[in-house]
Amino acid sequence: MPTLLLYYLLLRPASKLLTNFHYQNKWSMDKRSFLKGLAMTGLSAPLSAYSMGNWTDRFNKIPAPSITGNDVWTDIRNGYKLKPDYINLENGYYNFLPEEILENFIRHVREVNYQGSYYMRTVQFDNKKNIAARLASIGGCNADELIITRNATESLDMIIGGMTWKAGDEAIMAEQDYGSMLEMFKQVAKRYGVINKIVSVPNHPSSDEEIVNLYANAMTPKTKLLMVSHMINITGQILPIRKICDMAHSKGVDVMVDGAHAFAHFQYSIPDLHCDYYGASLHKWLSTPLGAGILYVKKDNIKKVWPVFAEGDRKENDITRLNHTGTHPAHTDLAIANAIDYYLKLGPDKKEERLRYLQQYWTSKVRNMKNIVVNTPADPARACGIANVGVKGIKPSLLADVLFKKYKIYTVAIDYANVQGCRISPNIYTMPADLDVLIHALQELGEKGTA
Ligand SMILES: Cc1ncc(COP(=O)(O)O)c(C=O)c1O
Repeated sequence: MPTLLLYYLLLRPASKLLTNFHYQNKWSMDKRSFLKGLAMTGLSAPLSAYSMGNWTDRFNKIPAPSITGNDVWTDIRNGYKLKPDYINLENGYYNFLPEEILENFIRHVREVNYQGSYYMRTVQFDNKKNIAARLASIGGCNADELIITRNATESLDMIIGGMTWKAGDEAIMAEQDYGSMLEMFKQVAKRYGVINKIVSVPNHPSSDEEIVNLYANAMTPKTKLLMVSHMINITGQILPIRKICDMAHSKGVDVMVDGAHAFAHFQYSIPDLHCDYYGASLHKWLSTPLGAGILYVKKDNIKKVWPVFAEGDRKENDITRLNHTGTHPAHTDLAIANAIDYYLKLGPDKKEERLRYLQQYWTSKVRNMKNIVVNTPADPARACGIANVGVKGIKPSLLADVLFKKYKIYTVAIDYANVQGCRISPNIYTMPADLDVLIHALQELGEKGTA
């Protein structure tokens, strides 16, 4: 190998190599040059190469409110490889990929493997940065306030574990929050003497104020951090985040929002929420491959956080301080761009409407059925695609079992805090006919009152 090339590959910082690599700077916000860049490099196929039919053209012709027009949704469904064994109503864990994103992902795996260390030493970090900028634009925030992580757990636990805690400091959270974050708070309690105050969010709040007051009443002059779920994962309830943040800030308390289920599910801008920290998973509602998430930190707060993995010299308010991961699956980062394209083609507004429509389609039919308990608010503003349902007299684990074995519906049982039921999380490929099976099952089980 010529000495000069060796020098370039081994010694020069990756950013300096970009001028020799035609992949450079092609991941821009400008879609045309973005696509051109992809096509030139072989590190990603032109997206059309893997598009499944012409559903986007057809979709564009349907006015947004016509969300029940089934033809286009059939096309979208056909873009997924669905298991015929059961109806999957457990997409909340992982929104597995439509074939279009999957094929691009596989191509990235092949190409990064082909390029090997050359890719890792040249444009890996610039690509990640540019894709993070596209995610920031979806989140409505500045590119220097958002990084790509491996999941919501990494994002949120980095904040909980990275704060400068002292004995007697207090943190507030809810028993409906996600277990991994509650465990992390338990760890900082053991490690630093932090006192955790745990509230319980009602399944059917009468107003935003009821929820805001719940958190406000748990505050003391020692409160340092409040964690709140944007969408409660076990019920799908959406909380009034901005009002909670404004209340907390009026008392000098920072707010960290768990947006694991919110990002690319329904629309909002992170800065409009007035929160300090925001973490989400991308393999949930954005449908990226497994192992992708985001962390938003409001510019002024970046300096307050100690990273889990130390980064080299950076300014104290540089968010990349928090982004040292070691070697990780770089092809996953690349596929985030394909998932973003898919999401934008679909239309964030249409996706949100469809998911809310599907949830209301079944909840509105079962809410008043005998022995049925819907644990999710009926108000459309307080929920979107996810809801939770229980049957009086049937334990959630047994309900999930019967739904699976007898009715061929896959869900997940939830049996803690004030939630006893199965979480139902359809996705954009779900059809009303799938939900009719659930409605029928609930009617039969509710009538009998036993499994
Ligand atoms: C509310 C909530 N927060 C955080 C997480 C953790 O997400 P991940 O496993 O992608 O880190 C989940 C996962 O289901 C969740 O539902």
